[in-house]
Formats: sequence, C-alpha cells, structure tokens
Amino acid sequence: MDIKQSSERFKNFAVLECKGSSDLYEFLSLKIAVDYELLKLSLHAQQGQPVPNLLLGAVHYIMLKGIDHPLREFYPSLVKNPKKVEESFYYFKDFCMTNSKEIASILHNKRVQTNEVRRCSYLYPTFCYIYQKVSTPLSIIEIGTSAGLLLLWDNYSYSYGNQSIYGNKDSALHLKSKIREGEQPFLLPNSPPIHSRLGFDLNIIDLRNEEEYLWLKALIWPEHKERLEIFETAAKQFRKDPPKLVEGDGVNLIKDYAEQVPINSTLCIFHTHVANQMPDHVKNDLLNKVKEIGTKRNVFHVYNNIWDRKLHLDYFMDGKEHNEVIGETDGHGRWFDWKLGWIVT
Ligand SMILES: C[S@@+](CC[C@H](N)C(=O)[O-])C[C@H]1O[C@@H](n2cnc3c(N)ncnc32)[C@H](O)[C@@H]1O
Repeated sequence: MDIKQSSERFKNFAVLECKGSSDLYEFLSLKIAVDYELLKLSLHAQQGQPVPNLLLGAVHYIMLKGIDHPLREFYPSLVKNPKKVEESFYYFKDFCMTNSKEIASILHNKRVQTNEVRRCSYLYPTFCYIYQKVSTPLSIIEIGTSAGLLLLWDNYSYSYGNQSIYGNKDSALHLKSKIREGEQPFLLPNSPPIHSRLGFDLNIIDLRNEEEYLWLKALIWPEHKERLEIFETAAKQFRKDPPKLVEGDGVNLIKDYAEQVPINSTLCIFHTHVANQMPDHVKNDLLNKVKEIGTKRNVFHVYNNIWDRKLHLDYFMDGKEHNEVIGETDGHGRWFDWKLGWIVT
C-alpha cells in the first residue's frame, strides 16, 4: 500500500463507515486523508489490515493505558463532556508525532480483531432453527473466534423488539436486536443444549491479559458506549468459565477437530466477519472441507462474507446438501433480516 491508497482508505472510511456513527473518527479520518506525515505513519500496518481502524485504534489504546495528553479531552470514552470534534485534529497530530514509535510498533504487530458480541443476536435464532431440526445437543466450532465471546452465545439472554426474553434468563448480559425484514424466527425460550464448544483464531486474544483486553476495548469507537458495556459484561462472564480456544488457521484445522466430535451431537461450524479476510482459494477450501465432512455426518455451516455479506446456512443432513440464506445483518448486530426457509432464486 502507498500514501495515495492509504489516503483513499481514510476518505472511504470517513464517508462509508463513520458518518452517522462516530463524529470524531469521521472528522479525524478526513483530516488524516490529506496529511502526509500521518499517512506515512499509517503505512506501518500489516498487509490486508483495515488501516484506519488500526491507526485510530492504536491512538485510543495508548490513551486507554493512561497517557496524559490534551487529546483525551475529545474522547467520549475517556471524559464525561468531550470538547468539540472540530478542534481535535491539532492535538491528534501532536499525539501521533509525539508517540510515533509506539504507534508504528502497534500498527506493525496488532490486527483488527473486534469481537462484536451483539452478533449473537442473530446466532441465537439460527441455532434454535438448527436444534429444531436435529433435537440433539450442538457441538459448536467457531473459526475466527478472536477472544471467544461469540462462542458463549447460549449464555446470554435476548429480546427482539418486545417484552419476551429468550436464552439464558439469568445472564448478566442481555442483548437487544430487531428483525428488520422477513418473518418472526422460531425462538426457544431457553438456549439449546450444547455438547461442546471450540474456537480457532490465527491470533487468540486472551481476555485475562490486561493489554489484550485493552486492545479489544480500544477497537470500540469512542462514542459507542453501549458496545463497550456489552463487551465488558461479556468479558467478565467469559473469565469465569472460558471455553477452549486454539491458535491456528481454522480452515486447516477444521477436519481433524470435526472428526473428534461425537456422532450423537450435531456439528455446527460458524464464522462471522471472518471470511472476508481469506483469499478466494481458502474460501473454496473451507467450503470443500465442510462438504467432505457432510459426506460422513450431519454438519451445519453458518457464515457471512464468503461471496456476499448476507448470513448463510448451508447444511448436510443424511448426505443431502441444503443451502439457505438467512438475510442481511447489521455489522454490530442491531438488526437482521430473517428469511430462512424462503425460496431463493
Ligand atoms: C473481524 S474479527 C471477527 C471476530 C468474531 N468472529 C466476531 O464476529 O466478533 C476476524 C477474526 O478472524 C480471524 N481469522 C481470519 N482468518 C482466519 C483463519 N483462516 N483461521 C482462524 N482465524 C482467522 C482473525 O484473526 C480475527 O480475529
């Protein structure tokens, strides 16, 4: 990547992702997009990483660690009454130049691995749908688990625009979401039974390690207080009983681990916002591996971002392949479409 490409990324990030979601990041990104020194600094990011999220995350991270600098005054995550975003850039640049060595090292070493817990809101009805079909406990494998918070989807409680509550009603974490289009999904009052759960990631985030915990917090945009609260509550719950997480390439590991899952449980492989990080040949390899597993046993595969952004459910039952499209989902799980069972042409 060169300066020009980085500048484009910051512009697109401001307009397509930040607008209406983070005034601070929208403003700063537009300024960074025309600042040679900051763009040069941004080039320390690893290939394939979303550079704006990484640079802004690195700055947020250093401030969350407690460094004293007037830039803090502009972050709603750090002060009660933040100053006007229009006055922030001078301080942002000063911060980056003063801490350029540390920022470069973060860009070089860290990845964007945001673990977005509210995505469980659409996983819950999906696993209810699967359980309704199979009536055996589920063995869950997640590829690209980050810190593993989505693997615990059955531990949270849920509501979908009315008073009814589903899932684990004793949970400290309640997730609210809306069904934007489609039908009311079938929802079990209590979470379906789980036989086992396992997560793979190229780089596991250990939430018991304070620095790694802070990094995930830093990736949450400064205005997103609800996301931060959800993350903190989920992380607290996670630390009490962490699931098994394995570091490595989930596509390489999936077959060996799938073979260890007892046949009297239902194998469910899932991944959200992960496949977009895989080259096409790896995506094909993954789909072929699931197909191969499906020749030997029932297997369900829930995913998005392979060929499009929609949530998909492919499954093999008694050797027969089924492909269903669940629908569009919001990146932060605030809404989703529920079109399961609809004929897709
Ligand atoms: C944007 S994060 C999403 C995390 C989580 N799935 C969620 O939705 O909150 C993508 C994660 O996928 C991981 N990843 C990408 N390719 C992978 C692969 N082939 N095997 C395992 N993990 C992978 C990355 O390391 C990163 O932690």
